Amino acid sequence: MAEYDWDAYRALEAQLPDAQWKKYFALDRYKVRNATRLVELGLADAAPQRVLDLGCGTGLFLAGCQSLGHTAIGVNLADPLFDRTLELFGAQRLFHRIQPHTALPPFAGGPFDLITAFETQFDIVDGVIWGVDDWKGLFYQLRPHLHGHTRVFIKLNQHAGLPPNQIAPPAVRAYFETLGARIVRRQVDLPGLRSKLDAMT
Ligand SMILES: C[S@@+](CC[C@H](N)C(=O)[O-])C[C@H]1O[C@@H](n2cnc3c(N)ncnc32)[C@H](O)[C@@H]1O
Repeated sequence: MAEYDWDAYRALEAQLPDAQWKKYFALDRYKVRNATRLVELGLADAAPQRVLDLGCGTGLFLAGCQSLGHTAIGVNLADPLFDRTLELFGAQRLFHRIQPHTALPPFAGGPFDLITAFETQFDIVDGVIWGVDDWKGLFYQLRPHLHGHTRVFIKLNQHAGLPPNQIAPPAVRAYFETLGARIVRRQVDLPGLRSKLDAMT
């Protein structure tokens, strides 16, 4: 990712010193985390992939995808830091609040080979964790952007209110399992989600 202007990225820390953004300036750790994601998802040596990243934050994962020759689009709320970093990376993004029953705005670039969501918080609203109907709503919105082999990979946040060994409400976990999810710790890996959704309708 040497092509990006990291000095300009670091300079944003002085302009946006608020604690909520501090972790995004621990750049070495943050880069390693995203490089690990790229490798673990097989993107480091894959043919060009179309990637959609939900709750993309600064866009560092998108930046890594672009560096590797993939096409990547992020979805995120507008945010003073993320808007600047996404611009620095030249990343494509949709300003949008992901909600279970509000359609994604129309956008090009799909169908996607990979849809990711890393440690986002769109699945907790006012302290209430999404239930099965909420996840169904999101997957219904994503369906037109999936092809038969699209992989959907979600890394859930640890939600306050759930015991540490529980990644999601039990009914949500069971729903993911009916969709063929491979669940490892907080990672929910849904290969071929579209065919599973089609089979359930
Ligand atoms: C903890 S950060 C993770 C960012 C990035 N995925 C990463 O791993 O570095 C959570 C992100 O989800 C975004 N987010 C939270 N709720 C959202 C919503 N309803 N719609 C879109 N983005 C949302 C936040 O703005 C933030 O960028």
